[in-house]
Amino acid sequence: MNSASKKAFFGDYVFGVASEVYEPAEDSFLFAENLQVAVGARVLDMGTGSGILAILAAEQASEVVAVDVNPYAVRCANQNAKRNGVASKVSFVQSDLFASLAETVKFDMILFNAPYLPSEQGEDASWLGRAWAGGIAGRQIIDRFISQSANHLEKDGAILLMQSTLSNVAESVAQFKVLKMEAKPVARLELPFFETLVLVKAQFSV
Ligand SMILES: C[S@@+](CC[C@H](N)C(=O)[O-])C[C@H]1O[C@@H](n2cnc3c(N)ncnc32)[C@H](O)[C@@H]1O
Repeated sequence: MNSASKKAFFGDYVFGVASEVYEPAEDSFLFAENLQVAVGARVLDMGTGSGILAILAAEQASEVVAVDVNPYAVRCANQNAKRNGVASKVSFVQSDLFASLAETVKFDMILFNAPYLPSEQGEDASWLGRAWAGGIAGRQIIDRFISQSANHLEKDGAILLMQSTLSNVAESVAQFKVLKMEAKPVARLELPFFETLVLVKAQFSV
């Protein structure tokens, strides 16, 4: 169950990746390259997978909560936090999005490299499928995340959401606007076959 069959690398960091867990890929690395965490920030890493973003965030953060619906990911990320010397700052929760967090808990930053690809029925039946499959429009998880995320963000906090042009970035921006948040792309990576990864940053409008 906890066999780390593969390894992934970012800078000096090493991540074991169990076979049931999302292996850090272009989206993870684009996110990591653009991750700036203020000293002392409280950070939520939603969908932590191998824990890559939680572990990088922990260098500057005072506290990181790493959440995943996949119990294998929670265990894998926990092992990687120990391996990379940040275990004392990171706590791990198995949860469907925010369901297992206290209603009143708030963060300075919320990170989510979401499952954002359009998928057909049943493609999310495995843990690995759930890492990428976003339903028919690619927005099944993204929409739920956005609608709940503002309740868990400090007034001057920021949300970073990774998605793809295949799952309608403008729709995310519009949904954040309904929540009185201003959202804009802060990083992009063009992929083959007419897809661009987009990192969206959202903050409450002033
Ligand atoms: C694209 S992977 C990103 C993993 C890691 N953060 C990274 O950047 O490499 C998406 C992650 O979201 C998790 N996930 C999917 N649906 C979720 C949900 N409803 N609640 C919490 N996590 C979820 C998956 O298990 C997976 O680990």
